[in-house]
Amino acid sequence: MDSNEIRSRFLKFFEKRGHKIIPSASLVPENDPSVLFTTAGMQPLVPYLLGQAHPMGKRIVNIQKCVRTQDIDEVGDKTHDTFFEMMGNWSLGDYFKEDAIKWSYEFLTSKDEGLGLDPARLYVTVFEGDENASQDTEVFNIWEKYIPKNRIYYMGAETNWWSVGDDGPCGPDTEMFYDITKDGLGDLTKEEYIKADQEQKVIEIWNDVFMEYKKKDGKVIGKLKQKNVDTGAGLERIIMAIQGKDNIFDTDLFKDLIDNLTLKSQKTNTSDISIRIIADHFRTAVFMITDGILPSNTYRGYILRRLLRRVFTKASLAELPDHFWIEIIEILSRVYKKNYPEIKEKFDYIVSVIKKEEKIFEKPLDGIETYRLDLEVAKLGVIKKMGGVPILKNKDTASGLYIYTSFETYGNPIDLSMNVAKNLGYAVDEDTINKAIKEHQEKSRTASAYMFKGGLANHNEKTIKLHTAHHLLLAALKVIVGSSVKQKGSNITEERLRIDFLCDHKLTDEEKKKVEDWVNEKIKLGLSVTKRELPLHLAEKIGAEMEFGIKYPEIVSVYFIGPGEHYDAVSKEFCSGPHVTNTGLLGIFKIQKEEAVAKGIRRIKAVLV
Ligand code: ALA
Repeated sequence: MDSNEIRSRFLKFFEKRGHKIIPSASLVPENDPSVLFTTAGMQPLVPYLLGQAHPMGKRIVNIQKCVRTQDIDEVGDKTHDTFFEMMGNWSLGDYFKEDAIKWSYEFLTSKDEGLGLDPARLYVTVFEGDENASQDTEVFNIWEKYIPKNRIYYMGAETNWWSVGDDGPCGPDTEMFYDITKDGLGDLTKEEYIKADQEQKVIEIWNDVFMEYKKKDGKVIGKLKQKNVDTGAGLERIIMAIQGKDNIFDTDLFKDLIDNLTLKSQKTNTSDISIRIIADHFRTAVFMITDGILPSNTYRGYILRRLLRRVFTKASLAELPDHFWIEIIEILSRVYKKNYPEIKEKFDYIVSVIKKEEKIFEKPLDGIETYRLDLEVAKLGVIKKMGGVPILKNKDTASGLYIYTSFETYGNPIDLSMNVAKNLGYAVDEDTINKAIKEHQEKSRTASAYMFKGGLANHNEKTIKLHTAHHLLLAALKVIVGSSVKQKGSNITEERLRIDFLCDHKLTDEEKKKVEDWVNEKIKLGLSVTKRELPLHLAEKIGAEMEFGIKYPEIVSVYFIGPGEHYDAVSKEFCSGPHVTNTGLLGIFKIQKEEAVAKGIRRIKAVLV
């Protein structure tokens, strides 16, 4: 089931149960300067939760765009993103616990009308009670009609009481979790469930909040005029559960983005995490710009600027080509064309905003400017850490660890960063900086000592050259003899290379000559040879050559022999190397022998002279 089908099933399911469909509100909260972004589906509906009559009635259903940057450091794991969509059905003083739970369960599990998720993989938490409200036994009892008792857990207010900010509607909630492991976890004790949640083996997919309380200055002060239901189901996570993926980046919302970025990156071993961060932050930035936010040094503009800067920095570390992001906007406009056609409509505008920002970023001392912005953003309290490192040590002190990391990662001179922090009125935690510098010096000493000992122990120059020639030979056989040629075995010594391959005939002299010429032509061209770590499915997708009958791991290294983009490489082959860096170093390639080894398998021995 793709994401569009999930959206439409959700809206239809609740429409059939008397709900009116309303569109997503903007990411910029209307008339609420106290919050930077819409962070939950309930936010634009607060007046109606407080009792104002909604023009569409008491039952509403929507899919709301949201931005949350509090967990920015978790982005890149299985489930966190800074932009997401929240599916919600709303009772504004109408139905309450019984119907809300029944419909959540039915929608999640019904094969006809809902998502058809496996009920045996569901776990549920229920509010255990505190000084504000008693234990929600009513909700527990309702759940017992659907889920075995030993999969329902009472939990405290930290997880099962929902409110946003210090004032406004709030209440206890019940959360639904789905087991995304391959074999299924089965029954779990409460402790086991908590551990499975921490390890992202079960993921929260739905939250029903029973909003009947109100808060003032951070304290619950009593009941609202009406009992409401506020539900929130993270679309990305639901898709992940439905599509059987163990992370959001493999779902149809992200897949094309991730594949595009991974293939474009010229860095040999770009980490998945950086690519995920680039995809996530860029998607958020595009939605923000579409909703009228512009990069700046204040409030929302700060966050947008920060996200874009993180994208540019990560992109340059991943060696993505200039303007790689234009294609990313195209992909986003395609993925979201049905639901957010405005991305396509505003395409030129979005490009112009980001181009302008990119120019500013390219100015000298950009790293320091970024650091200054980080401090400002940390002061606002929306982003507290960057790359897992705290920006502030406490309210008044800039984090030494952050200053050091920004030096190590981006090359920002430590003195300069300290000055920026001091000019902004922060103290600097210099002890940590000095400690980090010492540790770094120690580490690099050990690393270089190791490199002298280790290295290319079993590979001498001649075998390495023959190894690269072997790749060219396989590519040549596929071009000259036919694409059905597949490697079936190989052996390389200092003197010669040997390849066994699937082929139904003895090579003719003409074929052998053509193969030699093809290889020698590529040697003459002096093509670059590069290695990249790629997910198996991507390596397969781009047609990298692999040995027939071998089972490969999930991440494989692929060697590319130029020219230009990896797509046009003359040879792409699964291999762990090593290889020469340029084919120009090989010499002249000659086939010595061509013979049969078994039925349908031929063998070539060849040398470099
Ligand atoms: N408002 C609730 C949440 O965001 C549903 O989880």
